[in-house]
Amino acid sequence: MKRTIVAGLVSIALASPVLAQESVEVLHWWTSGGEAAALGVLKKDLEGQGVKWNDMPVAGGGGEAAMTALRARVTAGNPPTSVQMLGFDIQDWAKQGALGDLNALAQKENWDKTVPLALQQFSKYQGKWVAAPVNIHSTNWVWANKAVLDKAGVTTMPTDFDGFLAALDKVQKAGFVGLAHGGQAWQEATVFDGVVLATGGVDFYRKAFINKDKAALGSDTMKKSFDRMAALRKYVDKDFSNRDWNLASAMVIEGKAGFQIMGDWAKGEFLNAKKVPGKDFLCFRVPGTQGMVSFNADQFGMFKVGAGSQAAQTKLASAIMNPSFQSAFNVVKGSVPARTDVSDKAFDDCGKKGMKDLAEANSKGTLVGSMAHGHAVPASVKNGFYDVITQHFNGKLDSAAAVKAMVAAAE
Ligand code: BGC
Repeated sequence: MKRTIVAGLVSIALASPVLAQESVEVLHWWTSGGEAAALGVLKKDLEGQGVKWNDMPVAGGGGEAAMTALRARVTAGNPPTSVQMLGFDIQDWAKQGALGDLNALAQKENWDKTVPLALQQFSKYQGKWVAAPVNIHSTNWVWANKAVLDKAGVTTMPTDFDGFLAALDKVQKAGFVGLAHGGQAWQEATVFDGVVLATGGVDFYRKAFINKDKAALGSDTMKKSFDRMAALRKYVDKDFSNRDWNLASAMVIEGKAGFQIMGDWAKGEFLNAKKVPGKDFLCFRVPGTQGMVSFNADQFGMFKVGAGSQAAQTKLASAIMNPSFQSAFNVVKGSVPARTDVSDKAFDDCGKKGMKDLAEANSKGTLVGSMAHGHAVPASVKNGFYDVITQHFNGKLDSAAAVKAMVAAAE
């Protein structure tokens, strides 16, 4: 409102109403090329609706650094509008009362009917939707460079663990790095998800990682899993320490290495480098885990924000849950939709396989939450497992000691 004094009279001129532009601030760890491309799909969607996007990226796969940054913001009483979150982290924040209530939108859009129950157990807290799931990833995948395998004489993809070691051996002997790997705890844990599934199967994985069963954690099967980690370690190059996961993917993309064991976000890197599945690169399940899927889902936790920010927050949640957005986004990200009603038509062969594997595993009871990515146990236990797995990988614990340490970490 503008007041002007004209010839002794006070006239009140109404300034033309300037509406503040709606905005969202989003904290996430999507900083690699493929991840940024996928995030761009969401940004563009929101900007198309007139909502300004304030980006808060915190690098570091698995989201540990992001959760630390988030803690500081919440402690200061100034949470972002929305945060990329994994499984139990959502529940931890909901327990602390930091998350909002999306039930009105969820009811209007029928989320209960379209989001798989395996995700709903993390998206909802005490009956309230607190997060919007954007995708389903899976960790038990291997990514391979086809030309490297051709040169090394690996003609068929291994279907069991020993076959995988034999293929790694051939690749290494042909002068390439066998296994591209980044030495960070969450990456070692990602490899371990697949190795434990291959070694003990789904029931064992559940007992050990979801039920924290001491007999399973302390078993010979767990020891064998660690021995297999040590076997894989021999095919990793000497510069692996602290390498980012996307740089390990780049080694496969550029034909320096044969294989990488990594979640299907790796596919986003291959696509971003204009590589074609089946022609330039291959995707297959960690040998010995066909028919099993260890999943994680990125969800956007919606924080309690002031009345002025709620409309934009609702727009963000609704955009994330839109079926055509879920197709467009996940085609780029490497993941599959977090809804059961999205067609696989736009997806490449790896994506189609991902969707089919997921549906089958869900109906057969062979779908398990990824330990490495926060869907088996809460961060308090997960971080203990991380320590043991990474110390063992770096030769600081032998397999027998690692098994004992896993039991202790579960306590
Ligand atoms: C997330 C993915 C992400 C990956 C690497 C995982 O925890 O679920 O979306 O691409 O970390 O940053």
